[in-house]
Amino acid sequence: MKRERRILITAALPYANGKYHLGHARSTYLPADIFARFQKLNKADVAYICATDEHGTPILLNAEKDRKKPEEYVKYWHNYFDKLFKEFGLIYDIFYRTHSKENKKLTIEFFNKAKKNGYIYEQEIEQYYCEKDKKFLPDRYVTGKCPYCNAEDQYSDYCEDCGKAFMSGEILNPKCRLCKAKPVMRKSMHYFFTLNALKKEISNYLQFNEYLQKDVKNYVKQWIKQGLKDWDITRNLEWGFKVPGKKEQVFYVWWDAPIGYISSTIKWAKQTKKNWEDYWKSKKTEIYHFIGKDIVYHHYLFWPAMLMSVKDKYTLPKMIPTRGYLNLEGRKFSKSRNWSITLEDFFKVFPADYLRFYLTMITPQASSDANFSLNEFKKRINDDLIANFGNLSRRALYFIEKFFDKKVPKPTELDAKDKGVITDVKKQHEKITKLLEEVRLMKALQEVLKCSSIINTYFQEKEPWKTKNPNCLYVTLNLIKGLCIELSPFIPFSTNELWKSIGLKGKAEEQDWSKAFELSIKAGHEIKSSKPLYKLVSDEEIKKLKRVLGKNLELKEELVELKNFKKIKLRIGSIQRAERINDKLLKLKVLADRERIMIAGIGEQYNPKELLGKKVVVIINLKPKVIAGIKSEGMVLAAEKKGRIVLLTTMKDITENAVVL
Ligand code: MSP
Ligand code: ZN
Repeated sequence: MKRERRILITAALPYANGKYHLGHARSTYLPADIFARFQKLNKADVAYICATDEHGTPILLNAEKDRKKPEEYVKYWHNYFDKLFKEFGLIYDIFYRTHSKENKKLTIEFFNKAKKNGYIYEQEIEQYYCEKDKKFLPDRYVTGKCPYCNAEDQYSDYCEDCGKAFMSGEILNPKCRLCKAKPVMRKSMHYFFTLNALKKEISNYLQFNEYLQKDVKNYVKQWIKQGLKDWDITRNLEWGFKVPGKKEQVFYVWWDAPIGYISSTIKWAKQTKKNWEDYWKSKKTEIYHFIGKDIVYHHYLFWPAMLMSVKDKYTLPKMIPTRGYLNLEGRKFSKSRNWSITLEDFFKVFPADYLRFYLTMITPQASSDANFSLNEFKKRINDDLIANFGNLSRRALYFIEKFFDKKVPKPTELDAKDKGVITDVKKQHEKITKLLEEVRLMKALQEVLKCSSIINTYFQEKEPWKTKNPNCLYVTLNLIKGLCIELSPFIPFSTNELWKSIGLKGKAEEQDWSKAFELSIKAGHEIKSSKPLYKLVSDEEIKKLKRVLGKNLELKEELVELKNFKKIKLRIGSIQRAERINDKLLKLKVLADRERIMIAGIGEQYNPKELLGKKVVVIINLKPKVIAGIKSEGMVLAAEKKGRIVLLTTMKDITENAVVL
């Protein structure tokens, strides 16, 4: 078959360190997968690429913490993600790694070419050095305050609050992460990439590429206006690809990571006897990079600039679909505070399709954040997926089984209603195709559900349970087959299952998108089974997942209780006594209006000792509550910032989105 379009799709390479949660799936991995599945059904020539990102300071730090060699450490996590992503239904053509020989070779080649073309120069810089640890301190070994937005506790290469990438030495109030000492500056030679020299080319790229996401483009343009700084692409570190001619330096992880998109394609092409350059250097190729909003700088600026700098006819990305973060029950995910659900937690209770369905329903085509609510999840699955699509398919199959002995009945001449529903559904299909092309996945799924509703209405009106109308069952089954194809990028497991129940060969995910609604199931075809596809989500199951959140959710529910209070009585109290109950909980005796015992979930952040004598803000008119077997007569207020809890000792510590615990 001659394929008209050639499409390269990447999902941002997950760091090989196991720090992930549902938010990563929502922003990056699921959208990329839905799009890749759609394009495969649509018969484009697709290369769908991912890999683990295995270099960088945090990975080395974590490997050291685990007392593992970094090679061993990243391999473990690579295998882990490989397995997990399969369970989630991600169908990469290759899931490779950045610590590979292909990537090493290409990383050095990029460096040499960019250098030869005058985009890389060497310069002596002053760099953080810890005299106690006798170590240069790259990136995450140093924390401090962002010089652009004043956010505290940022790593020295990048601000998580305002999204700016920093130069070495830019961060304010630096501290060594290992020993908390103030590092000194020490000189060493580094290579720099002249991002600024490519300013005009990058601006043009952003200007004339109409497919780039508007909301993101606008703030990237703002960054360019403020001026682009050249980019230090080397690090004094023992883990990574060695810089040619340097003994103690490796490339910065963000130099070799995106090159991993290409080197993984090279590996795949070798395995499948394809020409990798067709996917990277041909005018015909359309490149899509799926990312989360925190790595916009790297993908809208660094990466196109790198591709330009080697002057090797690389195709620039067509689209960089960028999605925001996910909150969990209204609060930021935080692994350290146990406020997190992983894919595995989820798969213990629900099938992957439920998660894929719900996450898509809360992910519009924008870089805005969204909220994951377990109650909402239950509603979406039960009301939208099961009541609509699930019931329709179950009933159609059931009536064919019951009235026609599992054989699709022979239709008579189709009447206006039969023809009408087919036309409507085909029109709807065109609309959905367009939405998917634009990577508007949530909207597309909503329209598929509308498609299902249209068929449902037709089915209801024809009342086949009374009339045994053969046309209705023949038409409906054919349209359900189409729905199966339309839904397969979103929920591949259950649609493949349904495909089998209908008695069709192959899989729903392997069909031809353009022929989805052809009436290809003929009279006499025998269906396999009318077993229900889905099981309703129960309160019991939701509770199970809530238990994963454990203590934290109890606190959260208290919060809701709090909202119902008309007047909250706040007092300043002083802590007279503090004892540890467990890792999370402390028992405090607070003198406020009177002496009160309060149980506070701040054990991970504070030692009992350091709390003695502290003045804190407390609520004194809550219903007493038994926590860990002790009656708690009030609540100590704390604010949350970036997953850390800070006790409210003075009111100015409360930030805009502070959460009262
Ligand atoms: N390794 C880099 C990407 C290199 S691409 C050449 C990276 N890895 S990551 O594991 O931190 O993130 C993987 C993906 O998830 C990225 O698209 C990132 O933007 C996204 N997210 C990271 N944190 C996220 C949330 N808290 N919420 C949603 N998406 C998040 O970045
Ligand atoms: Zn130190």
